[in-house]
Amino acid sequence: MSASVFPADFLWGGALAANQAEGAYREGGKGLSTIDMIPHGAHRLAVKLGQEQRFTLREDEFYPSHVGIDFYHRYKEDIALMAEMGFSVFRTSIAWSRLFPRGDETQPNAQGIAFYRDVFRECQKHGIEPLVTLCHFDVPMHLVQEYGSWRNRKMVAFFTHYARSCFEAFDGLVKYWLTFNEINILLHSPFSGAGLVFEDGEHQEQVKYQAAHHELLASALATKIAHEVNPHNQVGCMLAGGSFYPWSCKPEDVWAALEKDRENLFFIDVQARGAYPAYTQRLLREKGVTLEMQPGDSEILKNSVDFVSFSYYASRCASAEMNEHNSSAANVVKSLKNPHILASEWGWGIDPLGLRITMNMMYDRYQKPLFLVENGLGAKDEFNQQGEIDDDYRISYLREHIKAMADAIEDGVPVMGYTSWGCIDLVSASTGEMSKRYGFVHVDRDDQGNGTLARTRKKSFYWYQKVIASNGADLT
Ligand code: BG6
Repeated sequence: MSASVFPADFLWGGALAANQAEGAYREGGKGLSTIDMIPHGAHRLAVKLGQEQRFTLREDEFYPSHVGIDFYHRYKEDIALMAEMGFSVFRTSIAWSRLFPRGDETQPNAQGIAFYRDVFRECQKHGIEPLVTLCHFDVPMHLVQEYGSWRNRKMVAFFTHYARSCFEAFDGLVKYWLTFNEINILLHSPFSGAGLVFEDGEHQEQVKYQAAHHELLASALATKIAHEVNPHNQVGCMLAGGSFYPWSCKPEDVWAALEKDRENLFFIDVQARGAYPAYTQRLLREKGVTLEMQPGDSEILKNSVDFVSFSYYASRCASAEMNEHNSSAANVVKSLKNPHILASEWGWGIDPLGLRITMNMMYDRYQKPLFLVENGLGAKDEFNQQGEIDDDYRISYLREHIKAMADAIEDGVPVMGYTSWGCIDLVSASTGEMSKRYGFVHVDRDDQGNGTLARTRKKSFYWYQKVIASNGADLT
């Protein structure tokens, strides 16, 4: 076993999110949120994209988030399993509508505060540091219906009030915060990403970039407030990462890849550097977008984040000829199929070197510590005759990606930690399936909502335990 290249204080753990794990969608005074309206099945995509308006629940549809994996009632058992693996960090999110059921109240819901205090205390009991996302694909439905969600500037005040309430209520329990999960997904999946629903014939790019401006202001203000409430708070932005490769060395393909990267990095450029990047004017002009800004906005945006977090599942690929017909979405962002890499059962490319490339690019660009807060393989798992799950495919995926992260560290990139996605199986964000599993722990529930929700350790559970115990030196 070679010596570890990971720093001694490297944070190892896993990630879940309220919208895909908690369930209990109407308990504890929680209000309805966007995720509660997204069904499993044929309409899912149209609803997620904001093309089909869904403001009431339908009796003939199944909504996987309503039960999730019942983390709301089982968090003690789940956090104990994480502790058994040796986690030093656990990433989760707060459901905004659990604290503010409508979103525009002045006082937070006491039951919601009590629930998260219990969760974070449970983490503390096990020596696990919570890493908390304020907004992971859920917006209170009242804010969607009454205000049009992030298209409305009033959202900045609602969100910052919510953020302040969290920083104050959980002060001393949480010090690592993320503002918006995968903020760039707003462009690709507007309803699930930001609660946006479009009218027929509306200039969608205008709505999306205006909403982006509001989220960027809200994120910057939340960062400022977090530091005011407690100077020890550390706040990160969060990118759905994965660099674009040019399809060929044809200059037009290289330019296409650069533009595609910018589309995603646009958000992080602002959050990490504190101002809109130089290419903004032209980008918006070519899209026919005019941003409505108020005096003082540029000052607000200067409140940049302390660290840059990101998810990485796959690299991407672009050409000058890329269009709707020759590309498909892996983790929502459209890409050409790269013939040089393998793909998962769901068609997501598998490219560990792409992680090293992405990390180097991001550190070169931002010069801030990175935190890899999502990574993993969505795969079908089967129990063998002994009643065990031998998920060697998952171990192999994670091993290669952890090696790539170690290479990036040796390249000189500072990395704070690693939280693999869906450390306990949960509902898939893209498909609503349970059968697309990421976890070290199996959850007995199927795509139709049948099952006991019982937890079972997989082979990868014991593998990851060893990885953590050796601080990443033993990946065998
Ligand atoms: C990221 C999200 O996009 O990828 C998660 O932050 C999501 O919420 C994860 O679950 C994996 O995607 P999927 O569609 O396989 O669940």
